[in-house]
Amino acid sequence: MGKDVIIACDFASAEAVFSFLDQFKDEKPFVKIGMELFYAEGPSIVREIKKRGHKIFLDLKLHDIPNTVKKSMAVLSRLDVDMTNLHAAGTKRMMEAAIEGLTRPDGTRPMLIAVTQLTSTDQESMENDLLIHEPIDKVVMHYAHNAMEAGLDGVVCSPLEAGKVHDTCGKSFVTVTPGVRFADGDVGDQKRVMTPAEAKKIGSDYIVVGRPITAAADPVAAYRRCVAEFVD
Ligand code: C5P
Repeated sequence: MGKDVIIACDFASAEAVFSFLDQFKDEKPFVKIGMELFYAEGPSIVREIKKRGHKIFLDLKLHDIPNTVKKSMAVLSRLDVDMTNLHAAGTKRMMEAAIEGLTRPDGTRPMLIAVTQLTSTDQESMENDLLIHEPIDKVVMHYAHNAMEAGLDGVVCSPLEAGKVHDTCGKSFVTVTPGVRFADGDVGDQKRVMTPAEAKKIGSDYIVVGRPITAAADPVAAYRRCVAEFVD
C-alpha cells in the first residue's frame, strides 16, 4: 500500500474548502473531511470533492450498536469514499458489522480505520471517567489488536505509536497519523508532534496534516514539502 499525505480539510463551508482546493492545479491531494464540514454541507460535499478527482478519508468516527453502524457504513460505502473510521471502543462485534456494511456487492470496500483512545484522553481521564485502569499504551494496543481481529485495515494513532502498532499488529496493518509539523513550523495545540520525515522513518503509512498546509502562506508549496519529506 502506498504512503500518502492526507490534508485535513477542517473548513466550515463548501466555499472555504473549494477556494482552498482550487489552488491545487497539478496534483489532486488525498483529503480528510471531518464532522464539521460534513454536518455543515451534507453528503453532497463528499460527492463534489470526489468528482474533482480527490481521494477522501471521511472522518466521522462511528460508535453505535452494530446494526446501526452496519447500515450507516453501507450508506458511506455508496458515497464512494476511500477511507472511513469508527471507534474501536464500540467492540469487535460493532467493527465486524461495520465491515459487512461497508462491503459492496462486488466485494470491494473503502479502507476502514479504528480510533483507539483519542489523544485528548489521558491516563487520568480514562481512569476517572471511563473506569479503565490499565496503562493507556496497553489499552491503545489492545484496541488496535481488536480492530485487526475484526478485519479492519488499521488505526489512527500518534506517529509515536506507529512503530509499536506495527510490531503488535504486523507491518501491513495501516497507521494513519496526525500530529505532524515541519521542523521549523508552529506546533499550535498539538502536544506530541513529528516531522513528515520522522513519521516516514518510524513507519507511518499515511500522515494527516491540517494547519501546516491549510494555514500556510503557500499551501501548495507546503503540501509538496510534506510529500517530498514523507513519500518521495
Ligand atoms: O491542523 P492539524 O495538522 O493539527 O490537524 C490534524 C487533524 O487530525 C485534525 O483534523 C484533527 O482533528 C485530526 N486528529 C488529531 N489527533 C487525533 C485524531 C485526529 O489531530 N488523535
